[in-house]
Amino acid sequence: MDLGIRGRKAIVNGGSTGMGRSAVLALAREGVEVFVSARTEDRLVRACREIAEETGAAVTPVCADHSREDGRERILAACPDPDILVGTCAPPPMTPDYRAITREDWREAIEISLLSPIEFMRSVLDGMVERKWGRIVNIATVAAKYPGEIRVLSGSTRAALANYTVAVSKVVAKHNVVINNLLPGMHHSAFVEKQFGERAQAKGTTYEQEVAEFSREWRIASERFGDCDDVGAFVAMFCSEFANYITGQSLVIDGGATTSTF
Ligand SMILES: NC(=O)c1ccc[n+]([C@@H]2O[C@H](COP(=O)([O-])OP(=O)(O)OC[C@H]3O[C@@H](n4cnc5c(N)ncnc54)[C@H](OP(=O)(O)O)[C@@H]3O)[C@@H](O)[C@H]2O)c1
Repeated sequence: MDLGIRGRKAIVNGGSTGMGRSAVLALAREGVEVFVSARTEDRLVRACREIAEETGAAVTPVCADHSREDGRERILAACPDPDILVGTCAPPPMTPDYRAITREDWREAIEISLLSPIEFMRSVLDGMVERKWGRIVNIATVAAKYPGEIRVLSGSTRAALANYTVAVSKVVAKHNVVINNLLPGMHHSAFVEKQFGERAQAKGTTYEQEVAEFSREWRIASERFGDCDDVGAFVAMFCSEFANYITGQSLVIDGGATTSTF
């Protein structure tokens, strides 16, 4: 299926690995020119080179911290007029005890997972409205919709982000600019592999056993974690021409871990 976005320009913030990388790959496969930010230069440059080689698309690395003002300036200088904005970051730390969360933890989580995407949206929306075409996707977390103590740093900030995106999506929809969120559950990313690898080592089990136990405990209907590429394809779909009539939505991708009728 041709998603109708060949030749469009995209910024993907946090795109050197995990779901961000899978979003870059999916967009590049559609012929989108992609500007990718991340902080670790060698991994970022490698990811962009690999994706450019695989797809033939132009994929430009922008080494920058998107939670900082100077980083945002660098990213927007590389691509001042994106048609597409995709935002993600490393998941904020897990919090097994809400009482141990410090003010500094909150400040960091708010900067990276709430204020950064808001600042980016504010910077690019006027141009999208003027050109009468824009697509924004935030890769957030299922914990935004289904709170839990262990994901409270990640979930609370994304719940606020979802609230903001719904409000702003109503303002820009008439200009063919749509904003949506994806809410992933548990996926085999570097972050998850580290967390569950460490847990396995501490308990004398294996990564696979820990994933299976978590899947049982959290009643993941698919009885497994997802892959990061399960998310990238949906990013591309929400950035496509076909997404012109869907806005302010948050799609849960969690293998059936959560339950609600709609
Ligand atoms: N993995 C899961 O199971 C899971 C579950 C629920 C929700 N999520 C959500 O899904 C999203 C992606 O998670 P993931 O597991 O794919 O993450 P990941 O594998 O850790 O990848 C995060 C990406 O963002 C980049 N990044 C992080 N902070 C950045 C910053 N300040 N500026 C620029 N780039 C930055 C990282 O590169 P550098 O570190 O080099 O900057 C990397 O490319 C997050 O919003 C997370 O909360 C993930």
